Amino acid sequence: MCGIVGYFGKRKASEILVDGLRRLEYRGYDSAGVACLHDGSIAVVKNPGKIKELRQKVSDTATLTMTESRMGIGHTRWATHGPPTEKNAHPHLDASGHFAMVHNGIIENYKDIRKGLASEGIECISDTDSEVLVQLISFLYKDNLEDAVSEALQKIKGTYGIVVMSDHEPGKLVVARCGSPIVIGLGKNETVIASDASAIIPHTRDAVYLEDYDMAVITEDGMEMCNLQRAPVSREVTEMDWDTGAAEKGEYEHFMLKEMFEQPQSIRNAIRGRLDYDMGTAVLSGLDFSARDAAQINRVLVVGCGTSMHAGMVGEYAIEEMAGVNAEVEQAAEFRYRNPLITPNDLVVAISQSGETADTLAAVREAKQKGAIVAGLCNVVGSTIARETGRGVYLHAGPEIGVASTKAFTCQVSVMLMMALKIARTRRMPRHDGIEFARWIQKLPDLVERVLAQNKAIKAVAQKYAKADNAFFIGRGYLFPVALEGALKLKEISYVHAEGYHAAELKHGPIALLEECTPVIALLNNIPGKDKTLGNAEECKARKAPVIAVVSEGDEGSADGFDDMIVIPDCPPAIAPVPTVVALQLLSYHIAAARGCEIDQPRNLAKSVTVE
Ligand code: AGP
Ligand code: GLU
Repeated sequence: MCGIVGYFGKRKASEILVDGLRRLEYRGYDSAGVACLHDGSIAVVKNPGKIKELRQKVSDTATLTMTESRMGIGHTRWATHGPPTEKNAHPHLDASGHFAMVHNGIIENYKDIRKGLASEGIECISDTDSEVLVQLISFLYKDNLEDAVSEALQKIKGTYGIVVMSDHEPGKLVVARCGSPIVIGLGKNETVIASDASAIIPHTRDAVYLEDYDMAVITEDGMEMCNLQRAPVSREVTEMDWDTGAAEKGEYEHFMLKEMFEQPQSIRNAIRGRLDYDMGTAVLSGLDFSARDAAQINRVLVVGCGTSMHAGMVGEYAIEEMAGVNAEVEQAAEFRYRNPLITPNDLVVAISQSGETADTLAAVREAKQKGAIVAGLCNVVGSTIARETGRGVYLHAGPEIGVASTKAFTCQVSVMLMMALKIARTRRMPRHDGIEFARWIQKLPDLVERVLAQNKAIKAVAQKYAKADNAFFIGRGYLFPVALEGALKLKEISYVHAEGYHAAELKHGPIALLEECTPVIALLNNIPGKDKTLGNAEECKARKAPVIAVVSEGDEGSADGFDDMIVIPDCPPAIAPVPTVVALQLLSYHIAAARGCEIDQPRNLAKSVTVE
């Protein structure tokens, strides 16, 4: 699920591997390691904990194998089987020490394989599922590494991205994928392998994305690709376009802060060239359907997880309200397993920043299987969901490194609004309304800028409540998903127990939890239903809970009697989620900072969740 790096070339492998792992740190991990091969032997260094410590350990390992090696593999582990200890960290070696492997994913039948190996006298030493694979490769090895790897992979069930090397065949790396992404960067006289582009971009822009069941064999003569049955396959070389600077923090203390402040620009990038102000519609060529096709759509089903699902909810509201088309949002894992009813005129929109989320990918496959029109709304170009859906819209948010999603969310909402506009204009929305809505979408970057300008004031509010251990976010209509997202942000990075509720729902139970030290963030922007939410906020106040009122500019009176106020530029209901969420992102960030939390890599979380 986490990070893989591999290197084959002319430079010092250990340095490139550790640097690559550092670039993958944002994905979340609990331990890390590297293995280098030189002069017929393999050296491994592993460490539970941070890459900084691994780097130190590697530089303390002054063996020639480590310092002189020009090829090797590295890994950041997000433990699924077994605690994050040195023993369980990757790379794993086989019992003879001749084979080393890194693995992302889960080997589901590892217990059976482990038993089989034990009956051959081979004992695994780690608690991981991964180790069985390298032991199996070693057991099956005769005289060719790729033969042994393909044979072993045909015996396992589950997901994998792997890189394997052996001192029996120095000068060869074998790479394979099923379900866990692998990108191979083709540089000048060198090859860099990684589980995501950010570790490759500093070295080369030319990349090949492996597809499921692909294997690649890298030697001095270049790269050869085949499938598990060893039939040759060929994959296009694509050019990656994210610049290295985008993956650096610059003057900001955290990636999350940088990414929040990037939002005006990232939204500009997401909407650039996609709005037609004359026809009052959106031009989303990647969706690849005409106005006529759009008019045929019977229902829109949005699937996603976490923050992406919340963006989908905003889209659901906009599509139903503006286009009059039945729209639903569903948690991707639920969609996959409950056998949903799908008709050929259903449009299923899979929404995912990484484009690699296992649950969302499984939903895409299920929707395709059931004959729906499937579109992807992804940020990472070339990601699995983007490729498998074939049609869709890229967010153009640039690399999002902070585990807590911020700029991806606001770009997702912006794109969903454009999608709603496009569908609406093929239905009941008149041109002048379309033009007006397009102009509001165009204003999103400015609205966000006005919220970011209040950073200091929001920080002051955050510091006041930083010690609270519980918080509620309430909203209704378009602000209900924003309340959910605000609560998710706060719990992710500050570990404060936060719940997002529909404002009306609070009194059906959760209100029992309110007390003096439980702040309620009430989204009271000027949208239909505001007066009712105002009443709900009063109910909280009456139970002594402090209320932070989020109100529209010009309507500051709505915050009268409450404890604190955050002002959002006044805008139509469908537009309001974007500036409002930015205020909640800042609030969460400053609460987490005041609590001394590790904001960019919160405990237990991974940036992209590639296990179901
Ligand atoms: C967001 O802050 C979360 N870390 C998480 O909920 C995330 O949105 C979710 O895992 C989905 O990821 P995706 O957009 O890459 O599919
Ligand atoms: N399942 C493996 C383990 O627990 C790999 C986890 C990962 O992808 O980081 O070691």
